[in-house]
Amino acid sequence: MPVGEVNIQSALLAEQAEYYRARAAEYDEWFLRKGRYDRGLEHTLQWSKEVEELRGKLNTQAPFGEVLEFAGGTGLWTEYLAKSSASLTVVDASEEMLSLNAARNPDPSIRWVHANIFDFQPDRLYEFIFFGFWLSHVPSDRFEDFWSLVTKSLKPSGQVFFIDSIKEPQSTAADHVLPDEDDSETLVRRLNDGREFRIYKVFYQPDTLQERLADLGWIAQVSRTDTFFLYGFGSMKESTLAID
Ligand SMILES: C[S@@+](CC[C@H](N)C(=O)[O-])C[C@H]1O[C@@H](n2cnc3c(N)ncnc32)[C@H](O)[C@@H]1O
Repeated sequence: MPVGEVNIQSALLAEQAEYYRARAAEYDEWFLRKGRYDRGLEHTLQWSKEVEELRGKLNTQAPFGEVLEFAGGTGLWTEYLAKSSASLTVVDASEEMLSLNAARNPDPSIRWVHANIFDFQPDRLYEFIFFGFWLSHVPSDRFEDFWSLVTKSLKPSGQVFFIDSIKEPQSTAADHVLPDEDDSETLVRRLNDGREFRIYKVFYQPDTLQERLADLGWIAQVSRTDTFFLYGFGSMKESTLAID
């Protein structure tokens, strides 16, 4: 990538991390469909039903063993991982997020690691890696590098489970606009106080994401819920493991 583009991407990734630091205290409003994310009772019921479906899918993998959670945020999923883990490491670039995560999950055996995922080097291998609503924040030209990191962090028999957003305008706040173009990778997000940040948001279709992962050697199954979410299970093919 030309130096100018590298600099633009680095600045945008820094702005994205800054956005989540600033948003930490109001982050759960999105998940709980409160404030600017409140789209009415029918919508909230459908959202909750689909969240339950995701929890059910995640639970099919329990017990998870030794777990690494990338971009754990306020701990909405850490809570479920902790219930069925032999050990749990949570990585996030925001200290504000990590302290909310620790408050929600007062379990001294959880290891919270303050780190930038794009620089992260695992100090051990894990049996299960989870990331919720993170993959869409990885620029598409860093997709392969991110999945190499996942491979490098996973035991040969390990499993990955991830969740992310389907491109659905009602998922986001009422004052956010989703780009019309399918190939757009960035958008503007606003906080409750009106501050604006530009972030990466790459929306995937389950079948194209599954194919892209297969090209990298993953045996993955990517599916979706009715309206809001996609989710995927994955493990590595023997042949790719041999190369690694
Ligand atoms: C959309 S939130 C997802 C949080 C959580 N997984 C969930 O599902 O609620 C994205 C998270 O990524 C974190 N993040 C942003 N940039 C990061 C980076 N470069 N390295 C590590 N974490 C980062 C943010 O602090 C935030 O907690």
